[in-house]
Amino acid sequence: MTQQLQALSTQQLQDRRALRKMLRQRRRALSPKQQKNASNRLTQRLRQLPDIQRARHLALYLPNDGEIDPTALLPWLTSRNARVYLPVLRPLADNSLWFVNYHPQTPMVANRFGISEPSTRHAAHPSRRRPAWALDVILLPLVGFDENGERLGMGGGFYDRTLARLKDNGSRPRLIGIAHDCQGVERLPTAPWDIPLDAIVSDSRLVIPEHHR
Ligand SMILES: Nc1ncnc2c1ncn2[C@@H]1O[C@H](COP(=O)(O)OP(=O)(O)OP(=O)(O)O)[C@@H](O)[C@H]1O
Ligand SMILES: [Mg+2]
Repeated sequence: MTQQLQALSTQQLQDRRALRKMLRQRRRALSPKQQKNASNRLTQRLRQLPDIQRARHLALYLPNDGEIDPTALLPWLTSRNARVYLPVLRPLADNSLWFVNYHPQTPMVANRFGISEPSTRHAAHPSRRRPAWALDVILLPLVGFDENGERLGMGGGFYDRTLARLKDNGSRPRLIGIAHDCQGVERLPTAPWDIPLDAIVSDSRLVIPEHHR
């Protein structure tokens, strides 16, 4: 067992679990109409961000479990000739992600969490993927965020593991968490392996952590 795995006490792990449960309930309680409005407001906000306007290669996700929906951005991205990527759970591997080019003809299948993703067969071609370091922007789903740019995910560690391989001195994507406003908390209990975000965009605001200002 690695040192990282031992780094949180039982109490801290329970705190994270309780917080996940509460915040997932909050976002699942939103009505379809509230979801649609939130998605539209999010999209408007994202289109104003220079990082997103400049992006040639951008990863996003298909929403699940009440997550805010970034797909309203797709027509705009296409009109700007930006390439779009979706995360795919790497088969038979280390619980990290591939980022696979996505367009309307991409063959999709449900992964082991029931989330739609490009098929493994399709994703197996290296030419259809892009390494995380070579993406300009990743829009990350999240369960919770705080004012310091910390992120609480669904608990699989998939983004954390994938992004842990980025080199401090190398090229790296802008990590932008997207969320419903009700997923914000003042301070998240963090773990040493959590990768912080460069910014968070919600349906009603933009959070730039202090160390980025
Ligand atoms: N870089 C890493 N190397 C090895 N294991 C890791 C790494 N990052 C996270 N993990 C493991 O993944 C598990 C889940 O991590 P965490 O609770 O932070 O998930 P999360 O951030 O909510 O999930 P996700 O990134 O999928 O949204 C932890 O038990 C942790 O040990
Ligand atoms: Mg984490």
